[in-house]
Amino acid sequence: MSIVITGATGQLGGMIIADLLAAGVPADGITAIARSREKAADLVAKGVRAHIADYDRPETFTGAFQSGDRVLLISGTDVGRRAPQHAAVIDAAKAAGVAQLGYVGVFGGPKADFLLAADHRETEQLILDSGLPYTFLRSNWYSEAYAGDIGDLPGAVERGAIVTNVAAGSRIATAPRADYAAAAAVVMNEDGHLNKAYELGGDTAWSFEEFAEEVSRQTGKKVVHTSVTGAERRAILIGAGLPAAFAEVLVDVDDAISRGLLSATPGDLSRLIGRPTTPIADSIAAALASPAPRS
Ligand SMILES: NC(=O)c1ccc[n+]([C@@H]2O[C@H](COP(=O)([O-])OP(=O)(O)OC[C@H]3O[C@@H](n4cnc5c(N)ncnc54)[C@H](OP(=O)(O)O)[C@@H]3O)[C@@H](O)[C@H]2O)c1
Repeated sequence: MSIVITGATGQLGGMIIADLLAAGVPADGITAIARSREKAADLVAKGVRAHIADYDRPETFTGAFQSGDRVLLISGTDVGRRAPQHAAVIDAAKAAGVAQLGYVGVFGGPKADFLLAADHRETEQLILDSGLPYTFLRSNWYSEAYAGDIGDLPGAVERGAIVTNVAAGSRIATAPRADYAAAAAVVMNEDGHLNKAYELGGDTAWSFEEFAEEVSRQTGKKVVHTSVTGAERRAILIGAGLPAAFAEVLVDVDDAISRGLLSATPGDLSRLIGRPTTPIADSIAAALASPAPRS
């Protein structure tokens, strides 16, 4: 039996494997699915097994899984194309007869009706149709989407504004990647998580006004939340060089936040990790202490 992690060379996958090793799982009891030997080299050096496969090439998943394995499918990055990509993993997992198929999806599961969620809804349905024992890790946004490598906090500080099309006062319950990774390591390593769907997110939902206030407090520079219309935001994003389709996805996410779809705090994440989730103020402090390189 192996705990198999796809997307193992990504940031979340790497953290999950580190957590599994820290929990005492032997390195040779973990299999990393990676797109190339070079990318997997660091993990292999630690004794982790590697299987080279690509979601776009279903045949590469032949032999990736054994009967009884616990497999975690970390969603890919090709928004709009992910359901057929993930089907390659699900089909191979079914053919092997794995004991558990975990899936890192989106907060709200079938109720998440925004553009970015479509791939995740479809994937969850494919997993249910496969009849495999599943664990759905429906994740809210990473705090890093605003304070960290995904968001442009230094830019917001420089401009004195965090610009979104989120309606004033709307809230989102983020948690940093490390918290989601810790939860994934628990459900893949411990018993009792089969056929369960967890709604993972931060313990506290914050508003963009509160976020801006906290950034102001920590930097000593006035930063405000500027809420623009969807059309204005789309124009800003496209003007900054984003492809129109991706700009649309981001505008649609902010609409979902305004509709309250990412504000619930069911507490599943803190229960799984056995501690409170990391507050957004801590993520802001970490991001300010070591800003991600700006592209
Ligand atoms: N909740 C959120 O706020 C949020 C934010 C961003 C992303 N996400 C989702 O969470 C996932 C994990 O996040 P992350 O931070 O770890 O992202 P990441 O660092 O970009 O890692 C993505 C992983 O997916 C792998 N991958 C992508 N396309 C693949 C393909 N065709 N075949 C095989 N592997 C493929 C990548 O492989 P390589 O290492 O070879 O590139 C990488 O290992 C993302 O993929 C995305 O679906 C969620």
